[in-house]
Formats: sequence, C-alpha cells, structure tokens
Amino acid sequence: MIDGKKVLFSGMQATGNLTLGNYLGALKNWLTLSDEYECFYSVVDMHSITVRQDPAELRKRARNLLTLYIAAGLDPKKNCIYYQSHVSGHAELAWILNCFTYMGELNRMTQFKDKAAKHADNINAGLFTYPVLMAADILLYQADVVPVGIDQMQHLELTRNLAERFNNIYGNVFTIPEAYIGKVGAKIMSLQDPSKKMSKSDENPNGSIYLMDDPDTILRKCKRAVTDSEGCIRYCDEQPGLKNLIDIYSACTGKTPQETVQEFDGKGYGELKPAVAEAVIGVLKPLQEEYARLSKDKAYIDSVIKENAEKANYYATKTLRKVQRKVGFPDRIR
Ligand code: TYM
Repeated sequence: MIDGKKVLFSGMQATGNLTLGNYLGALKNWLTLSDEYECFYSVVDMHSITVRQDPAELRKRARNLLTLYIAAGLDPKKNCIYYQSHVSGHAELAWILNCFTYMGELNRMTQFKDKAAKHADNINAGLFTYPVLMAADILLYQADVVPVGIDQMQHLELTRNLAERFNNIYGNVFTIPEAYIGKVGAKIMSLQDPSKKMSKSDENPNGSIYLMDDPDTILRKCKRAVTDSEGCIRYCDEQPGLKNLIDIYSACTGKTPQETVQEFDGKGYGELKPAVAEAVIGVLKPLQEEYARLSKDKAYIDSVIKENAEKANYYATKTLRKVQRKVGFPDRIR
C-alpha cells in the first residue's frame, strides 16, 4: 500500500517495434487501472540486454518507449514511469532472489526455451535468470497487481512462488502479486499465422500491426490477414484467424466478442477486415499524434525521467533495505 492505495507494477521491453498485441494485452489495461492503483511502469532495459543489442539503438528505443507510455495517456505526475536501469535495486534484489530460485524452476520456463532456440549462439546466464529479474521488478514495489498478457503468466507464477518461499523463511516481507489479464486482447495472434502470438520479433512484418504503422499499412495488413474458407462470422477455436480479428475489433471498440459477431451477422470477411482496420486506426491515430508531439519536447521528457527515477528509487530502497536486513547483510553506518 502507498498512501492507502494498492500498488500496480508492469513493464515492457524496449526491444523491437511495439505491436498491437503489446497495446491490447498490456498498455490498454494499464490505462484503465491507473486511477485505482499507485502505479509503477518501467521500461525494462535491463531485460533487453539478455539478447545482444546495438547500444545507440537500445538507448533510442528505451526513450521512445517511455515517451509512448505517456503518449498513450499515462500521466507521469500520477504514474511512476521510469527506466529499470536507473534503479539499482532491481539488480540487487534480483541477486538475492537468484539465491532462492532453483535451476529446475528456470529450466521449465517456456520463454527461455523459445529464446534459447532463437539465439542459440548466445544462451547467456542472464537469459536463463531473466524471470528472476522480473520477479525482483514486481516484488521491489510490493505490487498487488501486475497487468500482463497471457504469455507472461508463467513468469508471474514463479514470482508468486519466490515471494511465498521468501516469506515462509523470513516472515511477511513481500506482498504476493496477482496477475491482471484483460477480458479481450490478452493474446493477440499473428495476422499471418494465427497459431503464433503477434510478436515484435516476427520476421514477417505482415503478421504484426506496429503501433507506428500508418493507416494504409494497417488496412493492407488487415485485408491480407489469414482467415479460412468457411465464410461465416463465428467466434470459435476452429477459425483462429477470424477469432483473432474479432478479438482485435472487440478490444479496440470496447465490445464483447459476442456483440461483434452479432454486428457482423450475415456479412462476410470482406466487410469485417476493413472494419477491423478502421477500429485499429481509431485507437492508434491519437496515440501516434501525441507521441509525435511529445517526442519534440526534450526538456519535458527529461524532467519525467529524472523525477520518476527518484520516486522509484525511494520505494525500491525501502523494500531492498528490509530484505537485506532479513538475509543478514550488515547494517549501514550513517
Ligand atoms: P514484453 O515486452 O514482451 O511485452 C509487454 C507486454 O505486452 C504483452 N504482450 C501481448 N499481449 C497480448 N497479445 C500479444 N501478442 C502480446 N505480446 C506481448 C506481454 O504479455 C506484456 O505484458 N518480461 C516482460 C516485461 C517485464 C515485465 C516485468 C512485465 C519485465 N519485468 C514485470 C510485468 C512485470 C516482457 O518481455 O514483456
């Protein structure tokens, strides 16, 4: 609790171009929850270097992502928007939690297996312990709730297990966090292969709608989206491409999938696809405009970076000192 409010933590990697999946699965929910909770939204640049990065590019992407959080509507006066690498507590707590995490637990992480297969020439220890850093992110702020897409659920379960393990040994140190998964949009699939999630790292750019795509590109990608030969609008697992388009439309318009099916009853994919594009453009256009405006305001973004890093450091240090004391590190002499 901070000032009588429950705490929310979430983050995104500053790697690749953000997709509509990132927006609908996470960022959109951040916006709806931000009044109710004391919120920490991190640009998790330390996670990004588990895969080799170009330094100048990473720095640029990290700043762009931080700007995008604000452009999406998160007020940095109310929400703590900051770079993970500006708060050393993340790394310090991660080290301690590493000593409470079993190799077997990390071996089971599907994201590690996927990434290790993709980057076979660089299976580094950071990639393996990535979920421990993620647990540190969340536990450092005593978060009650963590809004994420479905793909992060396994990491969240590990976080809960680590928190419980630590609390069982040392007493009530950590708040046990709950995942918050949105009703629609928690797993947006590739437009080209609806068995795969829409991903920043997809080699086929037609599979993903990027947050900075222009209207023509969005329309083209939606029209080309892989569907099936059934031809009628239903919401079922047997028509995964169609289901995905219904999810996207519903998440963008605030309708339920059932309402969307009713709206398009008797119509074909030829009518649904442009309507999906229009709904997506309606969400992304204001975001892109605000992003373009904010990107030019260097002084403002710099002030957000400075002030919010101080705020994040304050709360992070509070938890860190408590944890350090519990595990037996000597007190600091003031
Ligand atoms: P990342 O950067 O891959 O994704 C950011 C958020 O977007 C969600 N997401 C999706 N949701 C729906 N459909 C999709 N196709 C889709 N693709 C991505 C993700 O679930 C995520 O919520 N490890 C995290 C970042 C992280 C984090 C944290 C998150 C680091 N520490 C602490 C929460 C709390 C990651 O790589 O997300």
